[in-house]
Amino acid sequence: MVHFGQYIHTVKSIGNIVCEKGLTELDFDLEEIEKAGFEHFMLKEIFEQPEVMQDVMRGRVRLDEGRIQLGGIADQLERLRDAKRIVICACGTSWHAGLIGEYLIEEFARIPVEVDYASEFRYRSPIVGPDDVMIVISQSGETADTLAALRLAKEKGAMVVGICNVVGSTIARETDCGMYTHAGPEIGVASTKAFTAQVIVLTMLALALSKDRTMTDGEVMDALRCLNDLPERVKRILDYNGEIQSIAEEYKDARNFLYLGRGYNFPVALEGALKLKEISYIHAEGYPAAEMKHGPIALIDEEMPVVVIAPKDDTYQKVLSNIQEVKARGGRVIAIATEGDEEIRELADHVMYVPEGKAFMMPLLTVIPLQLLSYYIATLRGCDVDRPRNLAKSVTVE
Ligand code: G6P
Repeated sequence: MVHFGQYIHTVKSIGNIVCEKGLTELDFDLEEIEKAGFEHFMLKEIFEQPEVMQDVMRGRVRLDEGRIQLGGIADQLERLRDAKRIVICACGTSWHAGLIGEYLIEEFARIPVEVDYASEFRYRSPIVGPDDVMIVISQSGETADTLAALRLAKEKGAMVVGICNVVGSTIARETDCGMYTHAGPEIGVASTKAFTAQVIVLTMLALALSKDRTMTDGEVMDALRCLNDLPERVKRILDYNGEIQSIAEEYKDARNFLYLGRGYNFPVALEGALKLKEISYIHAEGYPAAEMKHGPIALIDEEMPVVVIAPKDDTYQKVLSNIQEVKARGGRVIAIATEGDEEIRELADHVMYVPEGKAFMMPLLTVIPLQLLSYYIATLRGCDVDRPRNLAKSVTVE
């Protein structure tokens, strides 16, 4: 608790003028001020995302010119475009953003991408050389394993591009070039706004690599418009906050959770499960929806809530069949679906809606209700969401 002074009362006389001065002690907590009225930093950071998204894109998404401008890599763009392969290395939530980056870069730029845990990359004999480009993603810019992977790739002659949030951090300084995420300080240990900012940077990068090569001007323009509309769509999801809170009430005592998603939403399933375990200490697993039949289906009963990410996309019908399979085994389903989808309401026990959007934009929408669901479940269980046990915001040791 920080005390801003204490009450002091003085009376001074200057000639025949009497001045009375008073100082009142304000019992303010600095942390409370920084939370801007939110109960926790994590909630504040979730709600900041529409603004953060604008900050990430400011000056970079150039709708009037129909292109992306990424100053930090402008000089290296050709080398990136000519890469035989891109290797993405990161840890934790940043690794999930990297997986989405793989889908984006392969779909738009048609450059092969591999995503590695930094801790695995550094301890095997990775095949990496001057024709490759490594992208390292790190909110803090200080994660020991990511830093070591970066150094190893540089030693082997690869160009290394950084995506960091903390300006001037070690990773940002040691990479050959890079892009900041401009998400502002992230205090909550569980990453939220930094994740969505990383995914936006990767989307912009994929589009910058594609322009005049693998995408027409019209396709790039369409994608830019989608990015431009994104903050408004996210605000709409945040308006469902109260409904998500009621769903959390029903599931707060569950002991296990399964998260399923396909395509762009598979990494979101992993991220949703990670958020829940980090802050609520409930065991949760993320899985590609179609893989359910190869194992997790054996776990399903009434004690196993299943979160299914099922927006209207090419695999929608298949994911719907997964929901039926879960229901047939007595499981309870929380679906994330596209607004207006009534069919899914018939099948699932609960639905959390997101606005419609192109497949590549979906992670930036579907992850928002999952962040809120984890937050509310954890607070209802009385967990300290901003400082979960055994976890650190930045892991600077092995
Ligand atoms: C820790 C944090 C996670 C984070 C991970 C990677 O585990 O608790 O929230 O995703 O480190 O951190 P980085 O700063 O490299 O993104």
